[in-house]
Amino acid sequence: MSRKANVLAIPALGNLDRQAGQLSQQLARALRGAIHKGDLKAGDLLPSTRSLSSSLQLARGTVLEAFEQLVAEGFLESKQGSGTRVMFSPQASPSRKASPSSDVVLTESALAFARVAERIKTLSPRPFAVSVPVGDTAPDDIWRRLGNRIRARGPGAPSGYGEPQGARPLHEAICEYVRKSRSVHCTPEQVIITSGTQQGLYLATQILLDPGEAAWVEDPGYPGITDIFETALRDRKMVRVPVDAEGLDVETGKILAPHARAAFVTPSHQYPLGMPLSMSRRAALLAWAKANHAWIIEDDYDSEMRYAGQPFPALQGMGPDNVVYLGTFSKILFPSLRLGYVIVPQPLVSAFNGARILMDRHPPSADQYVLASFMKEGHLDRHLRKMRGVYAEKRRVLMEAVTALISPDLATLQPTDQGMHMVLWLKQGLDDREVVRKGVAAGISLRAVSHMYSPGKSQSGVLLGLGGFTDEEIYAAVRTLGRVLLAAI
Ligand SMILES: Cc1ncc(COP(=O)(O)O)c(C=O)c1O
Repeated sequence: MSRKANVLAIPALGNLDRQAGQLSQQLARALRGAIHKGDLKAGDLLPSTRSLSSSLQLARGTVLEAFEQLVAEGFLESKQGSGTRVMFSPQASPSRKASPSSDVVLTESALAFARVAERIKTLSPRPFAVSVPVGDTAPDDIWRRLGNRIRARGPGAPSGYGEPQGARPLHEAICEYVRKSRSVHCTPEQVIITSGTQQGLYLATQILLDPGEAAWVEDPGYPGITDIFETALRDRKMVRVPVDAEGLDVETGKILAPHARAAFVTPSHQYPLGMPLSMSRRAALLAWAKANHAWIIEDDYDSEMRYAGQPFPALQGMGPDNVVYLGTFSKILFPSLRLGYVIVPQPLVSAFNGARILMDRHPPSADQYVLASFMKEGHLDRHLRKMRGVYAEKRRVLMEAVTALISPDLATLQPTDQGMHMVLWLKQGLDDREVVRKGVAAGISLRAVSHMYSPGKSQSGVLLGLGGFTDEEIYAAVRTLGRVLLAAI
């Protein structure tokens, strides 16, 4: 039988600093620490939130919030009717297993990074993984030919150190491309090559916020940014701002954190929900940023894949002095390329270069020259035209298969005119993490949407990527998903 934990005997709980505020975070930290130390063990049953709040003299909502945070992080599991139990056991954590000696004590940071590695796993390239290139559109031959030419001789051949900002021909090609396709205002000097949006988000958080300063982050939002605040840069404050049918709710942001230094947004295709940020919200966000000397970090992922209507131009074009613009080749070419870019207002260029030097000196050179030629010779434009047609068809097939094979009593698909994934909302009683676990065991790749919400707000859903799969594979996977949903009820 599992132990009923004597939480009140945990010394850290007696040390909550009531003056310092953020009591739910303090309580979560204390419980997390107790789990790491082994004071609380996997399987232990915690007291109810009501009894803990009365023993600790805390508001019940504070205790609830701490529990929800730890449930989201995978430390606790809450089941209706059977209470909240400890799930995580430090001995079983990947970092502990990998330790050469059992008495190695890992820092909170090491453990937090290890949890990210557990949570954000690369999905197997099978339906419904996102960003799997479609086989017959992948520009393999041209890429190989250009690569052979450029890597063998010329600027892409092995040579000395490069510039932290990247290679000049690629700055020029990107500047031209975003100017024409996204109405971005820039000069090549403002373009910084990254190893993808992920690196751009990390650099932006480090550079644009000082310790203690706050930034708005969409709720729900991209784990690639929320995990940076929760793990790597915990001294910067993340304020989750809700998203509605028009995208980020700017007015609520202004109430929650009027003087935040930055806002991280996905205006062309909100991640994960898929709607664009409306024109009036764009204007309101920019007006707030200008009035408060705040930065807007615009993650423009998926903007190229629009299947109906006119795309909104990038926010950057409306306020180039306030916006740090992030683009990636992961979606339109292939994610293993690991190339993206940040376009920054001129006064930020040196700061990004300096941070880049300390992080990894500069991006690998050869593929930058291959990509610059690929763009300058018109291959990217041709590739994109072809991709749009192929992905529009994949999207149609996926919608058709879901409508035909999954009962609306189990789940409903949220339609979107853009991007490379859709959200399938699960009906009440279906836990998306359970569905993901069962789906993976049944041979399909899924991501749970509930992780993308702040604690207490989550909704149950899964992401369905439109990746590079045949119609037959999509139909077979939807059939499997239907079976998984029925079994998970
Ligand atoms: C919201 C969002 N931004 C950016 C990216 C691309 O990231 P990267 O360029 O690091 O591959 C993704 C990929 O899934 C994404 O979902």
